[in-house]
Amino acid sequence: MSKKIAVLRGDGIGPEIVNATLDVLNVLGDKYSLDLTFEDAAFGGAAIDQYGSPFPEETKAIVKNVDAVLLGSVGGPKYDALPREQRPETGLLAIRKELGLYCNLRPAKYYDFLADRLVFKKECVEGVDIVICRELTSGIYFGEKKRNGDEAYDMMYYNKGEITRIVRDAFELAKQRPAKHLTSVDKANVLETSRLWREVVNEMAAEYPEVTVDHMYVDNAAVQLVLNPKQFDVIVTENSFGDILSDESAALAGSLGMVPSASLGGNVGLYEPAHGSAPDIAGQGIANPIATMLSAAYMLRMSLDAVDAAQSLENAVQQTIDDGFLTVDIAADPEKAVDTKTFTQKVIERLA
Ligand code: IPM
Ligand code: MG
Repeated sequence: MSKKIAVLRGDGIGPEIVNATLDVLNVLGDKYSLDLTFEDAAFGGAAIDQYGSPFPEETKAIVKNVDAVLLGSVGGPKYDALPREQRPETGLLAIRKELGLYCNLRPAKYYDFLADRLVFKKECVEGVDIVICRELTSGIYFGEKKRNGDEAYDMMYYNKGEITRIVRDAFELAKQRPAKHLTSVDKANVLETSRLWREVVNEMAAEYPEVTVDHMYVDNAAVQLVLNPKQFDVIVTENSFGDILSDESAALAGSLGMVPSASLGGNVGLYEPAHGSAPDIAGQGIANPIATMLSAAYMLRMSLDAVDAAQSLENAVQQTIDDGFLTVDIAADPEKAVDTKTFTQKVIERLA
């Protein structure tokens, strides 16, 4: 049966890394008889330019009627002066909410080939394999906000149902992994929402006796991720803490350019690299498409029921890396770096 993917290239390097990923998906589609069809839709700054809104109705209609959404990246200096409601980032929040994507998975994985470029000691990070499970459609991002002259507030709101569903997903994920360890990150010494969060985690822990659970305050978690990241397996946390910790943990991989993401929970999954639109290198053909390709692998596995294709894509990316074809952001010797097209070609050769 045909699978439909909405393609939201977005801004900056978005079109380049998404096009590279589509080239790879087309090869995989043929190889595994996936019958993939793609439908383009405007999003982010590109949609502001075209429709005056970062998430126009046209795009809304498209993303609700597909099997998955592949997104590049949004934002750029051109839109920085816009009021909050009109910014590309607001489109990102709106699409998450619209599709009910409350569960955001971001892995932080150690890559040996980047070891000597890390700010961490190799022995501290070797073997790190963490997944951050970030609540994505509530909390301070979506609570009431107001500006009154010299006063402003953003409310952090959670209800029990919102916490329960994300914590459940995190337990299910931890249960499937070898370490079966869940760390719930909160600020229960100060925040009421965190106390409720902790209560939910403790209640649910009884249903998952095979999972080891602990709680950590977010300030301590920020330190522990740097000092001793190997203690973590799955981390579950609220929206804003997850935003910050997932960027921090990307440093463990050595580059944000390596980190994919999946946003789940509704009928349609959304897959996007964890990095931004990198306007400084946009249009030069040198962007690193790895995070987007690995996001596409997540998409194949989680939304398109194509586990073999997902595995084959992940293997091909890893082999390309192992064979030393690296974009300039991750190459040890920038002189020997390959461009986006060459990297993509090498991945395709390894899929054959
Ligand atoms: C992310 C980004 C977004 C967020 C921004 C662009 C709104 O930082 O996906 O982590 O804060 O969620
Ligand atoms: Mg972020």
